[in-house]
Amino acid sequence: MTVFSKTPVIGALLAQVVAMPLVAIATALLSQSIDHTLLILMAVLLQGLLAALICRLLGLAVWWLVIAFLFPLALAGALLAGNLPAWPFGLAFLVLALVFSNTARGRVPLYLTNSQTASVLKDLMTERKATRFLDLGCGLGGVVRALDGEGRQARGIENAPAVFLLARLLSRLSRSGDIRRGDLWRADVSKEDVVYAFLSPEPMAPLWKKLSKEMKPGSLFISNSFAVPDHEPDETWTLSDGRKTVLYLYAIGREAA
Ligand SMILES: C[S@@+](CC[C@H](N)C(=O)[O-])C[C@H]1O[C@@H](n2cnc3c(N)ncnc32)[C@H](O)[C@@H]1O
Repeated sequence: MTVFSKTPVIGALLAQVVAMPLVAIATALLSQSIDHTLLILMAVLLQGLLAALICRLLGLAVWWLVIAFLFPLALAGALLAGNLPAWPFGLAFLVLALVFSNTARGRVPLYLTNSQTASVLKDLMTERKATRFLDLGCGLGGVVRALDGEGRQARGIENAPAVFLLARLLSRLSRSGDIRRGDLWRADVSKEDVVYAFLSPEPMAPLWKKLSKEMKPGSLFISNSFAVPDHEPDETWTLSDGRKTVLYLYAIGREAA
């Protein structure tokens, strides 16, 4: 855990800023001896490499190293491409902000549960005669729509604006599932039979603290891929889908019982 664990984007920006003067010195030293185009290419590569190295020293996750390396290349590419119109960049930024604005803060990216896993969840609910399902951070709401109906009520909560809008639209069009915009940390989980989450390692400990306190006895928390640290699941299911999805099942109220 470092100072930048919670705000890796600041660490990544700092890495670029720290790398810049070093690259400027190296470029100045080599400017007389190598060709101009080669010099620019070298400067850009060096900036990316140094920034990635600094990100590593700051303890950032591996994908930030990749971003730090590619950022100067993308910037140089855009500048060298000449008179490009500005609007595609603005639009791309807006779309990324609407989809991923919560990722830097919450450390939970968008990836989706596959249909085989949704079908296993559906069978589990049928077998256990569970009727109420909540997906915390429901993404595009695929699981919610797959589980809603046939006596089951499925809800989803999502806080990324564009993802929420699309999920809600799809659910309205298919008339299945109830998708709400909101923060999973404020969700009322007290009436659900099954609460499902497919998040990341980061929120699992505080999430378990919330759920074990607020969910009703006899209900079930299922986490896709990420186990609660320092707490044995009651069951672990490894599915036979392509990515060998692992589901961790936690029965609520087991200790009390
Ligand atoms: C890995 S995706 C999983 C999507 C969906 N549950 C599925 O399995 O297909 C996690 C989702 O959680 C959302 N998310 C992250 N933090 C959240 C928060 N605090 N409140 C609500 N949603 C959140 C993200 O925007 C993302 O869409």
